[in-house]
Amino acid sequence: MHDTQLKELSGRTVLVTGGAGLIGSRITRCLRGVGARPLSLCMLDAYPRRTYRDLFGVDPDDPDVIVGDIQKPDLVREAVAGSDYVIHAAALADVAACTRKPMTAIHTNITGTQVVLDAVARSERVRRLIFVSSASVYGNGAPEDRAQQDGECRALRGLLEAVYGRLPSQLHENARLRPTSVYANTKAWGERQTALTLGGVGTSYTVVRYFSVYGEPQVIKRNSHSWVVAWFATRAALGLPLNLNGGGHQVRDLVHVDDIASATVRALVAPRAHNETLNIGTGVPTRVRTVAQLVAERFPNSRFRETPLPPDDPLGGYAATHRMETVLGWRPTITVEEGIARYTDWLTRTPEAIPAWLRTESKAAST
Ligand SMILES: NC(=O)c1ccc[n+]([C@@H]2O[C@H](COP(=O)([O-])OP(=O)(O)OC[C@H]3O[C@@H](n4cnc5c(N)ncnc54)[C@H](O)[C@@H]3O)[C@@H](O)[C@H]2O)c1
Repeated sequence: MHDTQLKELSGRTVLVTGGAGLIGSRITRCLRGVGARPLSLCMLDAYPRRTYRDLFGVDPDDPDVIVGDIQKPDLVREAVAGSDYVIHAAALADVAACTRKPMTAIHTNITGTQVVLDAVARSERVRRLIFVSSASVYGNGAPEDRAQQDGECRALRGLLEAVYGRLPSQLHENARLRPTSVYANTKAWGERQTALTLGGVGTSYTVVRYFSVYGEPQVIKRNSHSWVVAWFATRAALGLPLNLNGGGHQVRDLVHVDDIASATVRALVAPRAHNETLNIGTGVPTRVRTVAQLVAERFPNSRFRETPLPPDDPLGGYAATHRMETVLGWRPTITVEEGIARYTDWLTRTPEAIPAWLRTESKAAST
């Protein structure tokens, strides 16, 4: 894809559901950078209001920020009616919260998605919808997907696994989906439902499967086990031990939020992204334990502590990136070392990003 194709977005209105959240706010900034007019439809309920305002740069009084619920058909229909493109990123975007409150996950991630899809299917103006999915749809990867590799490679892998334990799985877009959590299950449903609803009426769509998104100004959510970089850095900044769930052997493909925003905006206009599903990742596997070590280099007194693996926390894998690179003509630019250094520097400069509830817990633990 050529950068000139981004010119197509100049002067276009792009509705971003969840547009005030961590990723949505970065996407809207990127859209402004290419001359588009982003319109956010967001509940602004995932963080305290001051996090949205002071850290994400979202002004709830901006007329292009609609504070509202994607489950409201009239509201969504009106927002979609004035839009040339739609990026559907609103979700209950926390694996553990979806496990605790499956009905809330169903309301937001399933009912809300259907309302957005219905409005887009009826629109004559929308040129493409991006459905924001997640690598969690792959679960732990599947033994038969690994067995698809040729015999020699499989034999070598078997030998290495006998010595080192389970090797990271490379996750291909055409692998069978194996969601292991309520959250992942809602995303798997959303992908298929997007294809059914929009494919049926001939409206272009693209499914983007984000791997593990991190980067400033990500702020941890209470009782969540997602977002390892932010969790480790925030705990380290308070002198709390870094919790290695299940020993930290899980594998993540950490992709910086700036790269996520670039990829998503490109997917809006890339001709070959029509009705495609794309992994958005770096193709580099990083163990959670390695993330902790990289954070600890920035906070030298850090301690590690082994904690149980939550049942909905997948062992994970890393992205096969060939399709993303071919379709978007692009690949991520920020390495994990650079991204973690940026995040820890930002957190040190921005102590207000550490939530008050964790400070309170930390004080209680030290008395
Ligand atoms: N952060 C990651 O690592 C990651 C990885 C894969 C996929 N994703 C997906 O990316 C998208 C954005 O995630 P994020 O990390 O920015 O999360 P976030 O929680 O920062 O943002 C999501 C936003 O959606 C809004 N929202 C929730 N329910 C809504 C509703 N009913 N109506 C309108 N708005 C509503 C919230 O208020 C929030 O501001 C989500 O779809 C998420 O599932 C995130």
